[in-house]
Amino acid sequence: MPRNHSPTTAQQPLNLVVVGHAGSGKSALIGRLLHDTGSPPPDKQQDGAALEVSRVSFRTGSRDCTVIDASSPREFLPTMVGGVDCADAAILIVDAAEGVSELSRRQAYLLHLLGIRQVAVVINKMDLVAFGQDRFAEVSSELSQCLSEIGIAPALVVPVSARDGDNIARRSKNMAWYGGPSVLEALERFQSVTLFVDQPLRLPIQDVGELEGRRLLTGRIETGVLRVGDALLLSPSNKIAHAHSIKVSSAEDSVATARAGDSVGVILDEKIYVEAGEMASHEENPPQLTTVFRASLVWNGAEPLEAGKTYTLQLATQEARVAVQSIEHVFEMDTLAERVDGTVDSDSFAEVILRGRQILAVDEFRVIARTGRFALIDGDQRVADGLVSMEGYPDQREALTIKSTNITSVEHRVTAKSRLQRNGHGGGVLWLTGLSGAGKSTLAMAVEQHLFRKGFHVYVLDGDNVRRGLNANLGFSPMDRAENIRRIGEVAALFADSGIICVSAFISPYQSDRDRARAAAGDDFHEIYIKADLETCEQRDPKGLYRKARAGEIQDFTGISAPYEEPVTPELCVDTANHTIDECVQHIVDYVNRVFALKPTAGDRDD
Ligand code: ADX
Repeated sequence: MPRNHSPTTAQQPLNLVVVGHAGSGKSALIGRLLHDTGSPPPDKQQDGAALEVSRVSFRTGSRDCTVIDASSPREFLPTMVGGVDCADAAILIVDAAEGVSELSRRQAYLLHLLGIRQVAVVINKMDLVAFGQDRFAEVSSELSQCLSEIGIAPALVVPVSARDGDNIARRSKNMAWYGGPSVLEALERFQSVTLFVDQPLRLPIQDVGELEGRRLLTGRIETGVLRVGDALLLSPSNKIAHAHSIKVSSAEDSVATARAGDSVGVILDEKIYVEAGEMASHEENPPQLTTVFRASLVWNGAEPLEAGKTYTLQLATQEARVAVQSIEHVFEMDTLAERVDGTVDSDSFAEVILRGRQILAVDEFRVIARTGRFALIDGDQRVADGLVSMEGYPDQREALTIKSTNITSVEHRVTAKSRLQRNGHGGGVLWLTGLSGAGKSTLAMAVEQHLFRKGFHVYVLDGDNVRRGLNANLGFSPMDRAENIRRIGEVAALFADSGIICVSAFISPYQSDRDRARAAAGDDFHEIYIKADLETCEQRDPKGLYRKARAGEIQDFTGISAPYEEPVTPELCVDTANHTIDECVQHIVDYVNRVFALKPTAGDRDD
């Protein structure tokens, strides 16, 4: 998201959350910040009511800063996920004497899940370690290792003594070796979360009607600005029309511009078919389209969440059924310790994978909070609040968008039947999917050899080979993998159409991509799951890639740092962890013999 550097944004108040375990000096730090900025102490700022979360404010030079101070995550997590509170930045406190504790790690992980990207680390109690530079360097390096594993890059690490005010508002004379900013200067540098009007346009459609023979859309603009004449992209239908005129509820006449917070009626220039629940945006900065995403959940249901169960997702005006595909991590709300039994109840905070039956339009919470937040409904109960993360998953818009126009298909004169008669068998796709090292390539090549000898017309498309040529311009990001599989799905379908049995050996980690490959080849598609658990594949490690991935030398490695979605209903499942290669080859060959029964090539061709 482009940051807005306009002066208005710079003066926006900064909402800050301070995390650090009991005894790390959180209150001392907050007290110091208030004292050194000449702000009233906490007890003078609260109205005496026993607030669960206290908010105290101070001023850093040009802007107001509000600290959301909660003694445990239970107090601020629900309000943050539910959208009541919003933190622009965080301070993570680490005790210099104690070093990086398990709790610091968990707190950092929480910041990551909440999508707080601006983090300053404060290494407190430097007085206890004689203001030692070496100790600071030691804790800093331990910390950067821990934070980089979690995906957080701290803006800076400041050595302080909160009790005595060293490096809080002023640079400390006790640590002349430290050349960086004080905590207050660090806060000055943080950006307030971009104003809603400065974010990309999001207009969730509440109602669809007709006015003067044109299409009328109504809804509230969540973020951004809408102008007459703008091209509006509707998601997930992926349709486009222009805003012919705009009315806002607060004015009688049509307006030229409407912005975040306005309830609007937009008349389109074309009478396209649109449904309530779609999201209007500009073409150049649309929401993501997906059937699957990662969610951070605060659970409120009376009964625990059930893996596999379907709930109703409400995201802006969109309502859809989603199933809980898997529960990835569950944390105790109070201690943030990981729960081993995996129960998601109201005392926990969970990371789960949700899968919709249909394509959904979502935003990454970290980028556009307003439309990256959702609720789950079970019956008439709101059972959860959640945040969307697309980490590890591709935006499917590219694969769903058809750009080519003025295309007419051309008929072959050679019929499928003639090809079948000459070859003795029909064409098809044997789609081998599985983890790296599961045995896809080995089996594909052995099956190819076997079938070829028997007289089949067969050819293998293999990931490592195709990525040297046709797909040499693609890497391993979720988007590149989706494009890799889209191309291969189409190529394999062409092979099948030409009468050949195409064996494809690609990890193809996403169900949605495999489903599209199936749609390209139709009835000729056979999904074959080459099954071996991660542990087995990692032990085999034929290319040494797992070792490199574990050492952090390869990013987005399937099974380690990128997801693999197991096929739900494959035509065939071949278990290479518990069977020999020969047995597995036979298994596939038997399947081919059953499905593609080889007929003697007869002379009675019809062309
Ligand atoms: S796919 O995910 O897009 O389907 P594909 O099957 O084409 O992957 O390529 C997988 C092969 O690329 C692996 O067998 C491995 O040799 C190599 N490779 C290199 N980097 C990665 C990575 N990050 N994840 C998985 N495989 C990788």
